[in-house]
Amino acid sequence: MKTQVAIIGAGPAGLLLGHLLRAEGIDVVVLERQSAEYVLSRIRAGVLETVTTGLMTRLGIDAKMKAEGMVEHGFNLAHDDQLIRIDIKGLTGRHVTVYGQTEVTRDLMDAAPGRGLQIVYEAKDVALHDLESDAPWVTWSAGGEQRRLDCDFIAGCDGFHGASRKAIPASALREYEREYPFGWLGILADVPPCHDELIYALGPKGFALASMRSPTRSRYYVQVPLTDKVEDWSEERLWDELDERFAGLSSRPIVRGPALEMSIAPLRSYVCETMRHGRLFLAGDAAHIVPPTGAKGLNLAASDVAYLSDALIGWYKNGDASGIEGYAERALRRIWKSERFSWQLTNLMHLFPQSTPFERAMQIAELDYVASSAAMQTAIAENYVGLPL
Ligand code: FAD
Ligand code: DHB
Repeated sequence: MKTQVAIIGAGPAGLLLGHLLRAEGIDVVVLERQSAEYVLSRIRAGVLETVTTGLMTRLGIDAKMKAEGMVEHGFNLAHDDQLIRIDIKGLTGRHVTVYGQTEVTRDLMDAAPGRGLQIVYEAKDVALHDLESDAPWVTWSAGGEQRRLDCDFIAGCDGFHGASRKAIPASALREYEREYPFGWLGILADVPPCHDELIYALGPKGFALASMRSPTRSRYYVQVPLTDKVEDWSEERLWDELDERFAGLSSRPIVRGPALEMSIAPLRSYVCETMRHGRLFLAGDAAHIVPPTGAKGLNLAASDVAYLSDALIGWYKNGDASGIEGYAERALRRIWKSERFSWQLTNLMHLFPQSTPFERAMQIAELDYVASSAAMQTAIAENYVGLPL
């Protein structure tokens, strides 16, 4: 098989990039390790910046998002029993949209045949070859047979654990990492949300988030020690915990319902500055991870592919290599700012088991300052809605 751009991974980064390139007539094949059903079963992001919704609109895949997405003009930080509303509309003139990653992915998958976007699911053992030549190629196995795809470029959109970043020689990798001493335990349930806007809360037992997917579907998270397993948590125990953490904060009592999904995600900050190696480009979680506190991961994947699609379109349409040469530098400027915001909000809103009394006092002072300062709230709001491309 031959194509112009081989894309590894059918998450939001790979699918958005595939559509953006196909829209310009560029040949693309997407190779995904899992089945479509498996990809859609992973419950992840919920909050979209206008950069992300704008790409869906540019692609004409926004009808469902516009009909079902919930436009949010504010969100809340809470410290103990004090609610601090961040008026993102008033402070920035902008908004975010609550529309699940599952829905974004499904919409992009459903629109793929109409755009001639070929997605190969269950492509096992993907391996990347001759990245430093101008004729790289990819192999995988399907049904016990070895397959080969020749291409001009490879886009590694295969997430943090994918094959693409691992294909870069260790000597060429420039990486930065921070792990956090806790994870988020999440639950998704068909119950009405307890508040009309999101609440990120820090209380005596740590962080909790009340989020939603629709007026009838809620998503909640609580901070848990890294040693906790999902099996340690019954649904009842988690609902009891959420009751306690949002008591006096939410405008309505928490409604309980059977879990559609429960999982624990560890928190990590990670940047691989080597976003280009020869003819391989990394985008999305393959190149960077943010802790979920700022809702930035999917949105950063979208901004990466906005830059990368520009670069590849410039190459194919005008023979212009400058976009390709400048891709990593351009993307990294936005990535580092989102890393900073996610790290800062994580530090502000979680209980760190190793914090010294001084560090705890600084955290409380900062929350108190945020509560009283329009300047602090504006800085948070403009990062939350997303910095410009
Ligand atoms: P992925 O979604 O990981 O997609 C990569 C794809 O590549 C997968 O389908 C995978 O199966 C495939 N793949 C992997 N290895 C291979 C291989 N070897 N060969 C072929 N295919 C492969 N972000 C936000 O913006 N807002 C939020 O509100 C938010 N909340 C989150 C909440 C949680 C609990 C978590 C865990 C994450 C959250 N995120 C959020 C982050 C967001 O989900 C990710 O940043 C986003 O999924 C990144 O998209 P991606 O396409 O780069 O990677
Ligand atoms: C959700 C996840 C986040 O990480 C976040 O910051 C806000 C909302 C969610 O899954 O709804």
